[in-house]
Amino acid sequence: MKVAFFTNSTKMGGAEHSLVDVYRVCNFDKKLVALEFGPLIERLIEEDCNVYSSRGKRGILFEVCLKFTFLYRQFSGVDLVYANGNKTYLISLVYKFIFFRRFKIIWHVRDAFDKHHFGFIRFLVGLSTHLPNVNLIFNSEYSGRALTSSFGRTGVVIYNGFDLNTWRGVGLSPKNKSDKVRMISTSRISPWKGQLELIEALGDIEEDFELIMCGGALFGEDDYLKEIKRKITLLNLEDKVKIIGNVDDLPSLLNSGGFDLVLHTAVLPEPFGRCVVEAILSGLPVVASKGGGVQEIVGDSEAAFLFDPDIRGELSKALRKAIGSVRNIETEIQILRDEVANKFSIRELAININKEIGRVK
Ligand code: GLC
Repeated sequence: MKVAFFTNSTKMGGAEHSLVDVYRVCNFDKKLVALEFGPLIERLIEEDCNVYSSRGKRGILFEVCLKFTFLYRQFSGVDLVYANGNKTYLISLVYKFIFFRRFKIIWHVRDAFDKHHFGFIRFLVGLSTHLPNVNLIFNSEYSGRALTSSFGRTGVVIYNGFDLNTWRGVGLSPKNKSDKVRMISTSRISPWKGQLELIEALGDIEEDFELIMCGGALFGEDDYLKEIKRKITLLNLEDKVKIIGNVDDLPSLLNSGGFDLVLHTAVLPEPFGRCVVEAILSGLPVVASKGGGVQEIVGDSEAAFLFDPDIRGELSKALRKAIGSVRNIETEIQILRDEVANKFSIRELAININKEIGRVK
């Protein structure tokens, strides 16, 4: 049995980090099919990577035809297409049902098909999942509920897995003289990840702090990034907030012992929330928005300071509470880290992914 892992994006967002893990743990005969070169291919360079390469500027129609033949060749002789996102799922559907290909499809649903993220289109996508030989894996219970309430089929929840050798759990920074709380935010720059709201909330904080904002504007959110920078200047936060862009080796940064708190302030429910798991596995408490997959990760732990992004002022309240208590919750952080390490392990991911692929075949 041959599985084609199919991705359109090769920039390292959450979905691509997860794909690297899923690809590595899969025990079946496999290949990667990608529609562009990028950091994801560099990470899997030793694997069977099949990447579409553009032939220069010869017009959109020509490009589409070339991509089409590339995929046609890649999908021949394949038994299963594992689609790592919405676009690849829809493209696989077209190949399967318009060109009568015999492969089965697994769509790993990594987005929440709720009204906030997708509006009306979610119902059409939901209905499409009832076509024969379409199988679903959800990255959280929340993503599962969102799709089924959009008329989608049910599927299995397989959580992302994390390697404890990478996420070592160094914990808080050594107590420093200035007593300043060192914070970091790690999600990619995007309006729904709420960086602008975070800066606004920080404007209301009297306590001494420092924030390193990492994460790239990976999918063309450059204007949003400029807006964040303008807001930082407007609120006189230049000395406290530093934007450092995309970080290749996030585990080393989070495990450097240089931070006390991780901030993940999405304004819409996070389908899963890899950044939250990474923070906790690094031994750090989090401030995060309530709801979505985050709730499944942190439960009601006191090492997680949750806020409702729809209520004005809640974020600053959560920030103040977290800043005031980070040094007094080391036991809670350790308990949460142990729970999260168990629930989101690479071992569980390997077992569940191979079981599901085996079942579908
Ligand atoms: C998507 C989701 C994010 C999740 C990631 C991995 O990027 O938005 O919440 O962590 O997929 O499943």
